[in-house]
Amino acid sequence: MTPILFATSNPHKIEEANETGKKHNINFKQIELPYPEIRDESVEKVAREGAKFVFNKIKKPVIVEDSGIFIDALNNFPGSYSAFVEKKIGNPGILKLLTGEKNRGAKFISAVGFCDAKGIVKTFTGTVYGKISNEIKGTGGFGYDPIFIPENSELTFAENPELKNKISHRKIAVEKFCLFIM
Ligand code: IMP
Repeated sequence: MTPILFATSNPHKIEEANETGKKHNINFKQIELPYPEIRDESVEKVAREGAKFVFNKIKKPVIVEDSGIFIDALNNFPGSYSAFVEKKIGNPGILKLLTGEKNRGAKFISAVGFCDAKGIVKTFTGTVYGKISNEIKGTGGFGYDPIFIPENSELTFAENPELKNKISHRKIAVEKFCLFIM
């Protein structure tokens, strides 16, 4: 199958998508075409609008992915603003915001937006539940991986990238897309 174009500046997203795609014989090819992210709390809406925008530029089928971490005690903050918050305060800032907080529940949500050759957009979502660790741990992955411990695990995603590739929000969303496009 010809590679699926994936518009992102984040090479980790491509690596993770290809890890999922390989068992379906689907390969994702990175294109770096910046697109404006709409301001909306829903990663699904952000992905939908992003896919439409990129399609209108390149006139070829394309996917984009929008994702974020949603922290229970912070009323789902930073959610779709995760990239911005990561740049501004990073993992130390998140741990500081949660100082003394007992409820450390959190989830990652991923939304893949796919725009087909006719310009029709579909979205595919994935969620992984877990909690925010008390300290930054591990060197794998990216972003909030060093502070996210998935359910039924003791280790952060950054400490256990193999597990991340099996159960992550992105794995679930990309897998749904692969099953759709096959
Ligand atoms: P996006 O490029 O707008 O989708 O940014 C997503 C942001 O959410 C990233 O920059 C990270 O801060 C965070 N994020 C999304 N997925 C992950 C993940 O798998 N691990 C760690 N952080 C993630």
